[in-house]
Amino acid sequence: MKPKIHLVVGARPNFIKANPVYNSLNQLNKFDLTLVNTGQHYDQNMSDVFIQELNMKKPDINLEVGSGLHGQQTGKILELYEKVLIREKPDMIIVFGDVNSTIACALAAAKLAIPISHVESGLRSFDWNMPEEINRVLTDKLSKLLFTTSPEAKDNLINEGISEKNIHFVGNTMIDSLIEFQHKFNKSNIRKDLDIQDEYALITLHRPSNVDNKNNLIELINSIKTTSKIIPCIFPIHPRTKNKLKSAKLYNTLNKNKRIKLIDPIGYIDFMCLQMNARVVLTDSGGIQEETTFFGIPCITVRNNTERPITISNGTNKLIGTEYYKIPDIVEASINVKHQEKFSIPSLWDGKSADRISKILDFTYSNK
Ligand code: UD1
Ligand code: UDP
Repeated sequence: MKPKIHLVVGARPNFIKANPVYNSLNQLNKFDLTLVNTGQHYDQNMSDVFIQELNMKKPDINLEVGSGLHGQQTGKILELYEKVLIREKPDMIIVFGDVNSTIACALAAAKLAIPISHVESGLRSFDWNMPEEINRVLTDKLSKLLFTTSPEAKDNLINEGISEKNIHFVGNTMIDSLIEFQHKFNKSNIRKDLDIQDEYALITLHRPSNVDNKNNLIELINSIKTTSKIIPCIFPIHPRTKNKLKSAKLYNTLNKNKRIKLIDPIGYIDFMCLQMNARVVLTDSGGIQEETTFFGIPCITVRNNTERPITISNGTNKLIGTEYYKIPDIVEASINVKHQEKFSIPSLWDGKSADRISKILDFTYSNK
């Protein structure tokens, strides 16, 4: 009998990171694979669009947990996934990234002594106010195989007492997806549909630290309005942020601004087309710091820290903190740079990370 492996997705970035791993393991044909969707994200453009555009297998199991407070959401996934694990008895589960679905499913498996592989292990912001930092540290502690995207992740894990033999530097599976689908990005009609003729700044913001506090949000939006006088902005808006803008009564005025195109979240191919053609990207996303590094597009990260320092040391990312009033000047300086800044694509961000993972899993189970 083939060993049974569950791959767990739930939030938008999970689909992009998991698909190459699923496909690579599937090609090996040595494992019995089950794709589990927790349903943490559920809007068409936050979940199903990725399944469709990445030609992803339809999830075998959907827990349909939806949104909720942290304890509620994590607890619901834990309860529902535990039942699935007891019924299905997988030999291993693979979790991705740092979202609530990641820790909840890891915890359910750990309590049943089912081994866990964590893809994107060892990233640390050292900021325990971030829910993701809690999810990262705890998931790594529970994991048997730790797959890392960058060299410093290994040091972080070793400093936390994790055994070196369980850590495997494999590269970045989000970049595997980028490389696989890159040929489609410029075929997207999104720039035509949005009537984009000039250079633009692409904006995404969804961190609770930036958008949940009303005063912060007001300041941030004011500074985006000022930025839009320098360069037109395209702002595909995360549902968390949309809700916060609406309850702060900021959504309608922002929506009326002719220099800011406020749009719903968009699918992967359209978003990547906008990203690779942007003059500058302003974001607080984890994945987008990495994708801009791959493309060499200037990225301005509105956070005080990043768990992805390689995007600064090798890439085009600048961490600017959260003094929002500085954003227009920083954007202006970045678009006035005449020559493209030097950058290098981090080691092993080469489209083959998922194959490295499946080789390691194959080796692990062949030698059991
Ligand atoms: C989550 C992750 C974050 C990740 C982000 C990717 C956690 C703790 N956070 O943040 O690390 O960067 O996903 O996008 O796991 N909502 C909808 N429709 C959806 C999904 C969410 O309307 O399909 C709204 C709901 O009001 C919900 C809010 O967005 O309460 C936040 O969603 P949630 O999944 O809790 O956190 P994210 O901010 O999306
Ligand atoms: N993304 C997308 N459409 C959007 C915004 C983002 O396809 O409207 C993609 C983006 O290219 C990246 C991923 O979603 O691959 C990042 O997700 P997000 O910023 O929500 O999460 P994070 O990486 O911060 O956890």
